[in-house]
Amino acid sequence: MCGIVGFVGNQQAAPILLNGLSKLEYRGYDSAGLAVRSGSELAEVVKATGKLKNLREKTNDGYALSGNCGIGHTRWATHGVPSKTNAHPHVSGNCTGSASGAVESDVVGVHNGIIENYQELKDKLIRHGYQFYSDTDTEVVIKLVDYYYKKYKVGPIDALAKTMVRVRGSYALEVMFKDYPDEIYVARKDSPMIIGIADGETYVASDVPAILSYTKHVYYIGNNEMAKLSAGNVVFYNLDGDEVEKDLVEITFSAEAAEKGGYEHFMLKEIHEQPKVIQDTYNAYVKDGDIDFSNVGLTAEDIQAFSNVYIVACGSAWHVGMAAQYVFEDLANLPVRVELASEFRYRKMPLASDGLVVVISQSGETADTLAALREAKSKGLKTLAIVNVVGSSIAREADYVCYTLAGPEISVATTKAYSTQLIVAYLLAMKMGVVRGTLSQDVCSGYLKEIETIPQKIESLLADKERLQWFASKYSNAHDVFFVGRGIDYAIGLEGSLKMKEISYIHSEAYAAGELKHGTISLIEDGTLVIGIATQKELYEKTMSNMVECKARGAYLMGLTTSGHYAMEDTADFVIYIPTIDDHFAGSLSVVPLQLLGYYISVSRGLDVDKPRNLAKSVTVE
Ligand code: F6R
Repeated sequence: MCGIVGFVGNQQAAPILLNGLSKLEYRGYDSAGLAVRSGSELAEVVKATGKLKNLREKTNDGYALSGNCGIGHTRWATHGVPSKTNAHPHVSGNCTGSASGAVESDVVGVHNGIIENYQELKDKLIRHGYQFYSDTDTEVVIKLVDYYYKKYKVGPIDALAKTMVRVRGSYALEVMFKDYPDEIYVARKDSPMIIGIADGETYVASDVPAILSYTKHVYYIGNNEMAKLSAGNVVFYNLDGDEVEKDLVEITFSAEAAEKGGYEHFMLKEIHEQPKVIQDTYNAYVKDGDIDFSNVGLTAEDIQAFSNVYIVACGSAWHVGMAAQYVFEDLANLPVRVELASEFRYRKMPLASDGLVVVISQSGETADTLAALREAKSKGLKTLAIVNVVGSSIAREADYVCYTLAGPEISVATTKAYSTQLIVAYLLAMKMGVVRGTLSQDVCSGYLKEIETIPQKIESLLADKERLQWFASKYSNAHDVFFVGRGIDYAIGLEGSLKMKEISYIHSEAYAAGELKHGTISLIEDGTLVIGIATQKELYEKTMSNMVECKARGAYLMGLTTSGHYAMEDTADFVIYIPTIDDHFAGSLSVVPLQLLGYYISVSRGLDVDKPRNLAKSVTVE
């Protein structure tokens, strides 16, 4: 939700800021803006609605703005409609600038996050004579900084600290003060922000890809911390205004990893990266043929102490939990509950104090998942995070952190992160099974060998993608699609359905196949596309019966099953086969054709695959 960037150094800031924003567009893309200043000159503010290209055009790719210090923002609207007025940067004065764009204001800033008590703060500021030109919570926070700055006649850090004590919510806030040329001040709570350093230059961004082409050396600013950025230098402060020491971290992935690499869309590139990132993730936790979570600090004694598992996540990450629960239950004989983070955090659910809460998140910043993690910790439960983004809030706060090695995922619709999360979940379930004595070492070794085949089997599915492309072009005008399956197949159907609807805007639903006749089957009519997933041997016949029931009501049937079940072609109109694999891990294969189907349908409909409407990659608001 929203991306922020900043730069201060020897070069012109605006082209660097625009380049950074282009790598963050996945975080929001309804409007964008820049504020750039040169020495003690006033900052110039330029904003444009719509995609970043509009701001590029307006600023001649940034070259129309002169100055080596600046901040930028790409927006995903929370407070106030997408409009030029509501676009960031926001200023402490009464409007965002003259015709030239120069602003008289003492404070100008951008913000990612949400200020929950903004209305109360706005009322207070109005009582003190402030006027508001936008509907945003960000304008309120910028004016509050200005208020404390002037009321107490303090420096930027003290003004920010007073503001932070007063606001409730989340923020990655970047501000420039008129009286402090060549400096940017930042503050962070619960929204991501990293600071990069190179020779004589300092960068700030919501996410690493925005600055990777300039530097690989970053600082992670902590929660409730602030920093002063000047050319090539950064000083961190805590809420008391005391300086804080930080370690510089070297990023291990390359700038190219966050580029399209010849693919038409990031999503297609990321689908194709799955064999590699699955292998990388597997290698991180399997050493000499044994599952090893020692680098996570998870010991056999810890595992023995857990009486049950709560898996908590949102969206696709929740779907990983839905699939993984069957594996945990079967291999580790542990009771598992899979909860949506947005529900879990507000439920009055009795939790076993010796339960393990597993949170799953690509970004590590999803507001609901982070809140659920904190809720679990406050109740004294141990927490384990399966997370992709190194140094993210969830990674920092969980007791145990299992990183997925998916690398940067840019497409809003997740694919490779999902697949690596599944791998970690399998390994965790198996490790728990071995430690608890419900899975023998021999059987575990056999399962590891099965998992090792997944990358090559995905390669073979990808090699056959033209069939799905053809099918997608035929069905790109579908109005409703139903995904049905049982057990793990149902969980994969949930993910297939989400992939379909989020990027192709076709209404789709996933049902546990046995549930169809309890209501949904009344929606099936002539030509309705029903995708039946049947990879689980024990459940194959049952799901087939449900598919037949749909066919009898006129459905057009696509089947997804394991190689060998050729009889499915007698019933289904179009069948996709996945290579044979142990049932527990079939989801890692069956999800791939469904990702491709969603992708190709979106392409056939001429939609923006990587940036679907109304969505953002990292959901840092409730
Ligand atoms: C869908 C998708 C989302 C995310 C969800 C959680 O393709 O990507 O449903 O899975 O927003 O995000 P993370 O994993 O970052 O917590």
